[in-house]
Amino acid sequence: MCGIIAYIGSREASPILIEGLKRLEYRGYDSAGVAVVSDSELHLTRSVGRVRGLEDQIIKEGVANGSIGIAHTRWATHGGVTVENAHPHLDDVKQGHSIALVHNGIIENYLTLKKWLEEKGHTFKSETDTEVLAHLVGELYDGDLELAVQAALREVTGAYAIAVVCAEEPDVMVVGRKGSPLMIGVGSHEYVVASDPSAIVEHTKQAFTLDDYSVAKLTRDSIRTSTIDNIEITPQILELELDLGQIELGEFDHYMLKEIHEQPDALQRSLQGRLDLRAGNVVLGGITDFARELATAKRVVFVGQGTALHAAMVGEFLIEGLAKIPTEVEFASEFRYRNPIVEPGTVVIAISQSGETADTLAAIEEAKQKGALTLGLVNVVGSTISRETDAGIYLRVGPEIGVASTKAFIGQLLVTTMLAAFIGRRRYLSQDELQMLLVSMGEIPAQVQSVIKQSDQIKAATSRYVNRDNWLFLGRGLNYPVALEGALKLKEISYIHAEGMPAAEMKHGPIALIDEGMPVVVVATRNSQYEKVLSNIEEVRSRGGHVIAVATEGDEEIRSLTEEVFWVPDVPEPLQPLLTVVPLQLLAYHAAVMRGKDVDKPRNLAKSVTVE
Ligand code: AGP
Ligand code: GLU
Repeated sequence: MCGIIAYIGSREASPILIEGLKRLEYRGYDSAGVAVVSDSELHLTRSVGRVRGLEDQIIKEGVANGSIGIAHTRWATHGGVTVENAHPHLDDVKQGHSIALVHNGIIENYLTLKKWLEEKGHTFKSETDTEVLAHLVGELYDGDLELAVQAALREVTGAYAIAVVCAEEPDVMVVGRKGSPLMIGVGSHEYVVASDPSAIVEHTKQAFTLDDYSVAKLTRDSIRTSTIDNIEITPQILELELDLGQIELGEFDHYMLKEIHEQPDALQRSLQGRLDLRAGNVVLGGITDFARELATAKRVVFVGQGTALHAAMVGEFLIEGLAKIPTEVEFASEFRYRNPIVEPGTVVIAISQSGETADTLAAIEEAKQKGALTLGLVNVVGSTISRETDAGIYLRVGPEIGVASTKAFIGQLLVTTMLAAFIGRRRYLSQDELQMLLVSMGEIPAQVQSVIKQSDQIKAATSRYVNRDNWLFLGRGLNYPVALEGALKLKEISYIHAEGMPAAEMKHGPIALIDEGMPVVVVATRNSQYEKVLSNIEEVRSRGGHVIAVATEGDEEIRSLTEEVFWVPDVPEPLQPLLTVVPLQLLAYHAAVMRGKDVDKPRNLAKSVTVE
């Protein structure tokens, strides 16, 4: 999803903006552009495709010398992928001044605003909602860019993160946000504004996130933060924990592969200080104040999207299994519009790697509106969901750059397991049961490492089916969400059509898809439904399907029934998803590489979907 980078200081803006766009590429985009204020003129360059192409075009046109500028990678929502629709957008030249604006989000009332502006003589060059906002700022501009931006944002409904510059005020930049992420890095006589910290940390570690409905006016030596009603507010500057090394590719071919291999360390980091084996407890500082409310909860509702939703589905099993509280899972996008019944004693838990997913954020706002206690299980520190929820637990797996979520998913599973144990111990989970779980949890990072070591075998097995365009993924119980996650991984980076479902459901229609040699992945670890899964494997094989199983080490029975087996250590059932997903991550990775796909930047996808 879109990336914004903006700079005001004493250094040349162009190289900083281009480097910042490259840092933000992982967020997903389809076009890009830069505007630099130079000698009180705006220099605008935009292109469709990769940032590299924009950089070449800037060099060809001649780099504008200027130390204030804005830049953007666009993930189209309104209007096709064209140069005219790429950002920055300008106001109407007939206004006699020149304002450039970049935007992440959706201006929901843009058509109404566009009609009003057209009646005032504005003409538009693009199909976007963003250009309407640029013209609105221009229409309201009366020599003070900060006031014009505030006035324009008061008229807007929807979500926005914006950066605005103006040739008539060459030493001023105004930024603002509501609903979309925007962070301001505070340097020495300079500011770097970006959609996330990965484009800020190389310049400064001091930063703050703008609150909703607020703007900041930046000059080289000053910053004024206010609401859109021009009420001054004091920003809370924090120390960014991110290091550049964490976001460099290193010796890996792709971020996704790096992040798969990082999983043991990531899990170790997430566990650090949270398993008190001596006292036999889980230490979760972010929710301690709500321990009683959680232990007496009547119902738990998980909300999330995509991979995070699959983690939530595992969470449903774990909370009901370990804490004995009725639990359900909802697509955040459905929950927010369903006018859900939220009775007293309901806990709504958002799972989100980015902490910025628009639908998940809106679901939390709906839950808060209805009086629920809200928790956020989030990776990005200081992200909107982490700030909007009553309490939460950070995943602490480090920045995830690859669009296909891997270590964040495993971090979501681990944190959800710790949460279920934390609540369970305050309800019916015995000390011995908890102790056994904690000891097993502590062994997971090394066990994940042992699964990763099978990468070459997994690659060889994948190569035998990589040209098949339709795959099924089956699982029962806790392995069902893992099957869904495996299908999502494969389809989102290799573009192979893959469908996950409960193993039993296959008989109710999808079995018609099975033809000779069709690859069917079955997550079939030793658990309470193992025998039933064996029957499903037989049903697949009897129709010519080829079964690729994820199975428990030493299970000779399943070896005789399948074409390929990926092995995982035998661990307690609640912890199995932490291991069974790893072979499926590697399978998807190898398939995408073999099919020549852009593993880290899959077509049409965004790392964080900050629009609805
Ligand atoms: C993960 O592989 C996907 N790219 C996507 O489904 C992602 O999990 C989803 O968009 C939710 O993102 P979040 O965890 O940042 O909220
Ligand atoms: N809605 C705007 C557009 O379609 C911004 C999209 C984005 O967030 O990149 O141009």
